[in-house]
Amino acid sequence: MDRVVIFDTTLRDGEQSPGISLDVGEKLEIADQLARLGVDVIEAGFPVASQGDFDAVEAIARGVKGPAICGLSRTGLADVDRAWEALRHAGRARIHVFIATSAVHMEHKLRMAPEQVKAECAAGVARARSYTPDVEFSPEDASRSDIEFMCEVLQVAVNAGATTLNIPDTVGFGVPDEFGKLIAYIAETVEGEYTISTHCHNDLGLAVANSLAGVTNGARQVECTINGLGERAGNAALEEIVMALGTRPDFFGKLTTNVHTEELARTSRLVSRLTGYPVQYNKAVVGRNAFAHESGIHQHGVLAERSTYEIMDPKSVGQSGSQIVLGKHSGRHAFADTLSKMGVRIQGEALNGAFVRFKELADRKVQITEADLEAIVTEELGVNAVDSYVLDSLLVSGGTNATPTATVVLQHGKDRSEAQAEGDGMIDAACKAIAKATGVEDAVLVDFNVSSVTSGEDALGDVVVQVAAGEIKVSGRGVSTDVVEASARAYLNAINRVVRLRETPVVRDAEAGP
Ligand code: KIV
Ligand code: ZN
Repeated sequence: MDRVVIFDTTLRDGEQSPGISLDVGEKLEIADQLARLGVDVIEAGFPVASQGDFDAVEAIARGVKGPAICGLSRTGLADVDRAWEALRHAGRARIHVFIATSAVHMEHKLRMAPEQVKAECAAGVARARSYTPDVEFSPEDASRSDIEFMCEVLQVAVNAGATTLNIPDTVGFGVPDEFGKLIAYIAETVEGEYTISTHCHNDLGLAVANSLAGVTNGARQVECTINGLGERAGNAALEEIVMALGTRPDFFGKLTTNVHTEELARTSRLVSRLTGYPVQYNKAVVGRNAFAHESGIHQHGVLAERSTYEIMDPKSVGQSGSQIVLGKHSGRHAFADTLSKMGVRIQGEALNGAFVRFKELADRKVQITEADLEAIVTEELGVNAVDSYVLDSLLVSGGTNATPTATVVLQHGKDRSEAQAEGDGMIDAACKAIAKATGVEDAVLVDFNVSSVTSGEDALGDVVVQVAAGEIKVSGRGVSTDVVEASARAYLNAINRVVRLRETPVVRDAEAGP
């Protein structure tokens, strides 16, 4: 057998995640998408648990074509009957019967002796088998059960007609090596025709590893959920199981699944939206950062050859593609590449200057958008044309009862020029300090406009000013996450133009116009 059956229990165990409650319509929408994804079995609910669960299982059994539709049931005959009632319209129906086999569950929860558990198993499985040839049996809490006793119960289940033996690590207690050996032992010990399945919970973060250890030891069905939803810390994540098998045939052998992997990201988004459970950014395979690279070295590698830092093609799982995320770890290579993809042509000194500004911004802003880059480049190209004074530092203070004061330090060629001033507000104080430090003290701010380049708390403020100095009237622009700094940059940008126009009459003619 080289195919692994994918049994999706998002709508049953996944829905048992605290706080999730899906209505029939939502469950149908997810089930339709699971069918599109190509899972083999959909566990649609636990029909006896509530009328809502019953209705959802029935609606899915009637309406969703392709996968087998499964309903969960305890061993009690009334439970099994109710499960069948909900499932009977399915093209292919499976009843999943379970009873606990660990000492702690038998004693404290079931209050049953081991022999009673065996009798319950036999009766429940036989009843299910009277309805459908597709019957699954689970010894709940298998990984903490006495292995010999559990194998006896499993043998009873096979003898009563179970065709799948599902081995739950109900409380996520197993570790891969041990869980794999448990699966191998069951395969050697329990006689008959059946498929072994794994059902692993993630309490120790080992659900996927344990499931895969099960597969390497003979399991040919894996029970899993989209985004790893499920009781407590969740179940094994479907997308990780499928992609591990697909990505490492060298290790797992040529095991296939029926899953159309390009549907994984879409399925993950749908389940996240309808359950209200967000997908962590760095979630394997479907997380929004699963194919995002921020470090300069990684970005350089991926731009040269994707496989340097990616083991899966993002498109193969339905993600839009490799993402170069510009942030504080990015290098000049990725910066220039992003600009060129945006159609921005900037080279030499201007590129260097823009890169320095970008790094400064990246230290303060988590995500740099294209709009941010455009603003930086626009400003840098402007600065390069008239750059006499460069802002080295700005210190402002103010408050309801304090006089607004600003101290600026400017770089002017090899010199530094420092000045302090008070003003009507911190922006006014900063502008006055710049005027002093540059010696352009006749400059008057005639217009001031501030807008936000992007949204969010760390948005860039984009300030455009108009400054008049004698007969010269110029504009200036500055961007920063800090509006006072953006204003100072805009003002300095304008002052630099004034200085240049005064120092270079030829340019002045050109810029001042006829
Ligand atoms: O975790 C578990 O044991 C279960 C069973 C019902 C299979 O969900
Ligand atoms: Zn479970």
